[in-house]
Amino acid sequence: MGDPSEREGAPEHVPSPGGTPVAASPSAPLEHKLGSGAGAPKALELRDIHKSFGEIRANDGVSMSLSGGSIHGLLGENGAGKSTLMKVLSGYIRADSGEILLDGTPLLMASPRDATRAGIGMLHQDPLVFLPFTAVDNLLLGSPGGRFLDRAEGTRVLARTRERFGFALEPDVLTWNLTIGERQQLEIVRLLSLGVKVLILDEPTTGISADQRTTLFEALRSLASEGMTVIFVSHKLEEVEAICDDVVVMRRGEVVGDTVVPASTDRLVEMMFGTIVAEPEPITMDAGDVVLAIEDASITERALSMHLTLSVRGSEIVGLAGLEGSGQRTLLRACAGLVGVDRGRVLLDGRDLTGRPYRSFLDGGVSYMPAGRLEEGLLTGMTIAEHVALVAGTGGFVVDWRAANADAERRIRRFSIRGSTTTTADALSGGNQQRLLLALTPPDVRLLLMEHPTRGLDIASADWVWTQLLERKRQGTAIVFSSADLDELLRYSDRILVFFAGRVLRVLEARGTSGEELGRLIGGKDRPP
Ligand SMILES: Nc1ncnc2c1ncn2[C@@H]1O[C@H](COP(=O)(O)OP(=O)(O)OP(=O)(O)O)[C@@H](O)[C@H]1O
Ligand SMILES: [Mg+2]
Repeated sequence: MGDPSEREGAPEHVPSPGGTPVAASPSAPLEHKLGSGAGAPKALELRDIHKSFGEIRANDGVSMSLSGGSIHGLLGENGAGKSTLMKVLSGYIRADSGEILLDGTPLLMASPRDATRAGIGMLHQDPLVFLPFTAVDNLLLGSPGGRFLDRAEGTRVLARTRERFGFALEPDVLTWNLTIGERQQLEIVRLLSLGVKVLILDEPTTGISADQRTTLFEALRSLASEGMTVIFVSHKLEEVEAICDDVVVMRRGEVVGDTVVPASTDRLVEMMFGTIVAEPEPITMDAGDVVLAIEDASITERALSMHLTLSVRGSEIVGLAGLEGSGQRTLLRACAGLVGVDRGRVLLDGRDLTGRPYRSFLDGGVSYMPAGRLEEGLLTGMTIAEHVALVAGTGGFVVDWRAANADAERRIRRFSIRGSTTTTADALSGGNQQRLLLALTPPDVRLLLMEHPTRGLDIASADWVWTQLLERKRQGTAIVFSSADLDELLRYSDRILVFFAGRVLRVLEARGTSGEELGRLIGGKDRPP
């Protein structure tokens, strides 16, 4: 990590160690670059790119040619090497070998700055980190002219993008108050203002609202029609089908095929996974006794305050729908005993746990899997065997490592985790981190609480997770999960709670509810006065 160009995710407009702000591309004022189209289409060629992390060959001889004026999809399972390739292309990491050519000219790419100078910019997969500036300052920080900021011009640029793309960015709002979707819009504006002609978006739709997605897709289409080369990285087939002109598929560090879009879904799935994956069938069965009862409770967490009564039975799956931050997480945390209730009662299998600590909920058979797998769920730096030892906890101070290792080996096999007993949690791909969390969940859990159980997972991993959850349902576990994926909510839930602005707007029977209806409710339409 000593080399600053290896610093993943660091925006290139952060002042350099010398303190000089970076002017990525000289001349033309901001406003002219924006919306003037990308000029002549740029053809991009990658030749035999290799990049390894220790033993892992993340990119193993990748070659592809991408024409200008189109939206190219880059599709592949978790860990296929998509982000690595795009980071190489945008100068965030250096390839071990290989060449990048833009309109036939080889590029020397030692830093993100070199990439933006050459006209290549990337929107990262991980949520963007911004410094505490206003939207307009953030834009100007990376603008030509360095320190001599012209706020009036920046404000005009933001106003123009509102007209052109429907981006709703207020110049004076502090960037850390922006939603993920708005941060993304700001970052796109910033990259465009730097004169980028190749725009890379790595899984851009995670965490943004349906409306923001529509706006984003329209902006990308408009940019491509003006000559921009857009690379859209995803493992969501329907998005690639909705927006891309063609698609390249990667698997285990290599390109395994490409095709124009529309293409047969089965063919794409087969390219991605090497086999056709069958979606697990939801099961209908009679619900058991009430496992969780929340009676007339008031729950307050930070600015959110909700009031509700809810009961969840064994073998029942309740989905929590709503825009990010509408209260779903607070409810899950209250069900886990991580947030107390101000009044009312929380009962588990008829036992009153109101006001009791998280430990009592755990002992009562509650298991909670937060969305931040690495921030809240697993322990960075700790190996799989250490995690197993921790949950198996003998109660004493001495760990039986031989037993823990054997147990870890068993769980790795049973849950098909790509890793070994000595692999640390942070070195696992997202899908494998989720597998590890499930592998650590006790088998006899009464209530399973899951926040975004399949976020960031490819179809095969998501299907695998649901196969596990349905098996738990069959065995009588009550499941409450939040998701931003309407299809997932409708397919697997028995009931759906729709959240809006911190309260439950509606309770729906999942069967018989359409995606359009659910989408409308999530957006706050139909809300009572
Ligand atoms: N900084 C790193 N250190 C070690 N291994 C890494 C690093 N970055 C990526 N890898 C490994 O390289 C492989 C490819 O990862 P990459 O992030 O490129 O995949 P991806 O196709 O973007 O997957 P996803 O769909 O999950 O985002 C994975 O096995 C991953 O664990
Ligand atoms: Mg990735």
